[in-house]
Amino acid sequence: MEKTVEARAHANVALVKYFGKRDLALNLPAAPSVSITLSPLNTVTRMSFTDNDSDEIWLGDTLADSKFSTRISNYLYIFRELSGEHRGVRISTQNNFPTAAGLASSASGFAALAKGAARLFGLNLSEAEMSALARRGSGSAARSICDGFVVWHRGEKADGSDSFAQSIAPANHWDVRVLVGVTTTGPKDIGSTFAMERTRLLSPYYQPWIQTTHVNAAEAVDAIEQKDIEKLGEITEYSALAMHGAMMATEPPIVFLKGTTLDVFHLTRQLRKEGIGAYFTCDAGPQPKVLCEAKDVMTVEQRLREFPGILDVIHCSVATGATAHFIDHES
Ligand code: PMV
Repeated sequence: MEKTVEARAHANVALVKYFGKRDLALNLPAAPSVSITLSPLNTVTRMSFTDNDSDEIWLGDTLADSKFSTRISNYLYIFRELSGEHRGVRISTQNNFPTAAGLASSASGFAALAKGAARLFGLNLSEAEMSALARRGSGSAARSICDGFVVWHRGEKADGSDSFAQSIAPANHWDVRVLVGVTTTGPKDIGSTFAMERTRLLSPYYQPWIQTTHVNAAEAVDAIEQKDIEKLGEITEYSALAMHGAMMATEPPIVFLKGTTLDVFHLTRQLRKEGIGAYFTCDAGPQPKVLCEAKDVMTVEQRLREFPGILDVIHCSVATGATAHFIDHES
């Protein structure tokens, strides 16, 4: 009977964003980024070898379409080459949050897949090597491998071996929270790679954006080490606005932000006037995310929940890195 691996990885939110590639095929970033790994948002993936050479990919109870299956099979090729094992793989994967709506499902998805595949194919890898492999599936997945507060190095090498994520501080270093405001549960219109490439090629603000990101990433690492919410929050807001500004300046423009998203940005500024340290961010989707310290989270969550246009709030804490282990086979 084939042994089954179960892998689990959490999503992450970038406080200093990754938005632009120096190498498209290898998902190498043009600048470093800084993130927090987030619980409870996670992907659980079970994998075992099949008795032939084709892969079978399930999203929950549904067989994945050929586009998605091909992406996964192409990705598994890396593990086949590294291990010399060419059997097919049966994969069943489940997210506990909406897929493809700017909630970083590709990050937890590819981090779980990479971690599980390394275990299944018998590869003995360091965390940096693991992160660099997750990166090949989806850039931000590099960060979901790691514990707590994370930096993803840009790296200099053309082969990407020095572009991996690393924990700056463990999950228990600082009790910050991220409240995800759900404004829509449907899939988004355009993917992050498409938006990044268009911004790189067509936005007059792309180079300034990349330059400021280098500075912001270094400052965010300091702010995390010092547990300075004001400094970290200001950098977080700046990075999100600068990223969206750069993509809004492409021709034709890319606009992920909805009215409710912007209204929540203003809500956090109002909260700060009231003495509460709340700071917003937003990725390639319409979901506003609010960063605060644990001591303020009840107030912030209540204000967000009652806010017009917010359908739901997902309360996230800082999570540990990805795991994978063999489980007893269930027939
Ligand atoms: O990993 P990708 O290719 O889905 O890119 C993620 C990009 C952003 O979420 C917009 C920013 C980030 O750093 O996570």
